[in-house]
Amino acid sequence: MMRRGLPVPYSNEDLKVAELAEALALACGTGTATASLIGEAAALHDVGKFRVSSHILNKPGKLSPCEHKAIKTHTIWGANMLIGFPGAVGIMARDIALYHHEKFDGTGYWGKRTNELPFYVHIATICDVYVALISSRPYKRGWASNEALDYIKTQAGKHFSPVLAHMFIKLMREQNGGGYFGPTWPEVRGGGL
Ligand SMILES: [Fe+2]
Repeated sequence: MMRRGLPVPYSNEDLKVAELAEALALACGTGTATASLIGEAAALHDVGKFRVSSHILNKPGKLSPCEHKAIKTHTIWGANMLIGFPGAVGIMARDIALYHHEKFDGTGYWGKRTNELPFYVHIATICDVYVALISSRPYKRGWASNEALDYIKTQAGKHFSPVLAHMFIKLMREQNGGGYFGPTWPEVRGGGL
C-alpha cells in the first residue's frame, strides 16, 4: 500500500483493514494497481474519528442516543476531511469514509443499501467489521478469528452482500491454510462493532 502524505497517523487496525481490503479486491478480480488503491483508500475509513471525543469512542456500555449520533458523524467528518485528496484514490477514500457503516439490507447509519454503492465500499466495510471484531477495545476483548468469520457468515444478506461474505471467508481460510487467522482468546465472548 502506498501512502500519499496525508497527515494521518494510521492505527494498526487501519493498516490491517487496508491489507485485507487489498487482498480481497485481488480475490474479487481487480488488477494489482486497483487493489492497491482500494487498500490505500480503506486505510482512511475512520479518519473522521479524530473529530469525535475519545470519551465517547471508548465508552464501555450502551451509548446514549446523543452519543450514538456523535459517533455516526465520523463518517461525514471523514468524507469532509478527504475533500481535495486527489485522483481515483481520493474518490474511493471519500466514498469509503462516508458509507463504510452502510449495510446490504439498508439498516446502516444512513439507510443506504450497499447495492447502491461502489464495490470498493463493500470491500472496506467487511474488512473493517472483521478487524473490529478481532480487536480488543477498552470495553471488550477481541474475538477469535473463527468466531468473527462465523459471525460474518450469519450476516450474509443482512450486513454484507452474500457473495462478498462468501469470498471473504474463503479468502481468510485459504490464506491460513484452511485454519483460522489471528490470535485466539478462548474465553472471549461478546463484543461488538
Ligand atoms: Fe467507522
